[in-house]
Formats: sequence, C-alpha cells, structure tokens
Amino acid sequence: MIDLKGKIALVTGSTRGIGKATALKLAQAGANVVVTGRSLERASEVAKEIEEQTGVKVIGVELDVGNPDSVEKAVSKVNEELGPVDILVNNAGITRDTLFLRMKLQDWEEVLKVNLTGTFLMTQACIKGMIKKRWGRIVNLSSVVGFTGNVGQANYSSTKAGIVGFTKTLAKELASRNITVNAVAPGFIETDMTEVLSDEIKENYKKQIPMGRFGKPEEVANVILFLVSDLASYITGEVIHVNGGMF
Ligand SMILES: NC(=O)c1ccc[n+]([C@@H]2O[C@H](COP(=O)([O-])OP(=O)(O)OC[C@H]3O[C@@H](n4cnc5c(N)ncnc54)[C@H](OP(=O)(O)O)[C@@H]3O)[C@@H](O)[C@H]2O)c1
Repeated sequence: MIDLKGKIALVTGSTRGIGKATALKLAQAGANVVVTGRSLERASEVAKEIEEQTGVKVIGVELDVGNPDSVEKAVSKVNEELGPVDILVNNAGITRDTLFLRMKLQDWEEVLKVNLTGTFLMTQACIKGMIKKRWGRIVNLSSVVGFTGNVGQANYSSTKAGIVGFTKTLAKELASRNITVNAVAPGFIETDMTEVLSDEIKENYKKQIPMGRFGKPEEVANVILFLVSDLASYITGEVIHVNGGMF
C-alpha cells in the first residue's frame, strides 16, 4: 500500500490528461496536492473535484511554467498555503507540430519554453525545500518520440530527448541529498494532446503498438505514483517507458 500522507505534491499542467490523473492518484495515496494550470478558475475547479473525491487538502494555483514570474508567484503561494513541495511532477507540455521545412522559429521556441525551460524553472523553484528536508521526488515527462523521433515533431521530440539528459544529470547531482529524479516516457495516450490527430493517423499509430490501443492517462499516473513512493527508493536517473510495447 502506497502511503503519501504528510507529503506535498505539485503536478504541473494538472487540469486535464495525464497531469489530472496523476494529481488524483497522489491525492488518493494521501498526499496534499497542488493542481496547476494557466487559468486559476480551471485549476481551482479540478482541485475542488479531487478534494471532494479524496478528502485530502488540494489547492488550485495559476501557473505558466515558461514564465519565471508566474513560477515564482505560484511556488510562493504553495509555500504559504501548504509548505515546501516534496514531490514535483514536471508534466506540463505542449506540441506545435509541423514538418521541419515549414517550422518557424516561434514553433521551436514556444515548445522549448514550456517543455524544457518550464521544467528547469519549476525544478529550481522547488529544489531548495527538498534539499533542506533531505527528501524529495522529481518525475519528468518525456515521450517515446524523444527516443524514436517523429515526423512533424522536431521541436517536441528534441525537448523530450532533452528531458532525459536533464533527468539523468539531476539524478547524479541530487542523489546524495536523498532526492530521486526519474522520467516517464509515455507512448500514445488518450488525452486532448492526441485527440486532435485525424482518425487515419490514429489508426496508423495503433498499428505500431503491439497492444493495439492507445494508453489511458491512469496507466501513466500509476507509474508516476510508484516512482514517488517508497517502493522506488533506490531508483534514480531512470526512464520508464509506458507505451504498450511500441518501443
Ligand atoms: N498524450 C500523449 O500521448 C503523450 C505522450 C507522450 C508524452 N506526453 C507528455 O505528457 C505530458 C502531459 O500530456 P497530456 O497529453 O496529458 O497533455 P494535455 O492533455 O494537452 O494537457 C496539457 C496540460 O498542460 C497544461 N499546460 C499547457 N501549457 C502550459 C503552460 N505554459 N504552463 C503550465 N501548464 C501548461 C495544460 O493546462 P491548461 O491548458 O489548463 O493551462 C494541461 O493541464 C506532456 O508533457 C506530454 O508531452 C503525452
């Protein structure tokens, strides 16, 4: 039985998809959870929903991970209302898909800002508290396409490969402080991010997945829950693939 009572967990981009499923799992395990999204209203709505379902304290906080001022404000608010973050899940991520020949610098920079710089900023903002407590868990969201590449995703797949280097380096720097840093690399998961794909593209992807279906957000959240728990106390710098066998 995983018990996260007394821990404070922040999941970036937890208003929907994998982030929301993760926030719910962590709250079900007893952690006090911070739900974040770019709209305070939406984050608060989801926080209330999870609090009602689990009975633990869950707060909604406005956060744009790519904006240093927003990161500072959000983390200060969490420190005031709940205390320092013990568990950080760097989940917020966006796509701006287009073939490389047509890719604008803006498509490249926007994706880097959220997926990579956002992870950098959030980790910097939360790490000091973990070092003080000599306990911490960080899980970063990579992707199968960071390992395989994918047509139309030069920007996105670069960030998801970058997350792996970031994770492995931080794991080495923070291991002596009893902070583990791991990554989860989902394959194709049923969320708003993949909902926009045409039926034809979805069917083509399914043919590449030995299990013959997309994953569910909960199937990724289960692995994140494991990684932040005491069951994973000796795992750091690792990437766990959750992709139905496609890679
Ligand atoms: N779905 C997949 O197949 C798949 C596969 C591999 C990896 N992943 C990765 O898993 C993570 C979650 O994906 P998902 O499919 O659950 O995504 P999603 O359904 O599109 O949700 C994205 C979340 O990120 C938030 N977000 C977007 N921009 C943000 C910003 N600038 N600052 C803070 N939050 C922001 C959104 O919140 P608001 O809109 O409310 O701000 C939302 O909660 C991402 O890192 C993604 O790259 C997904």
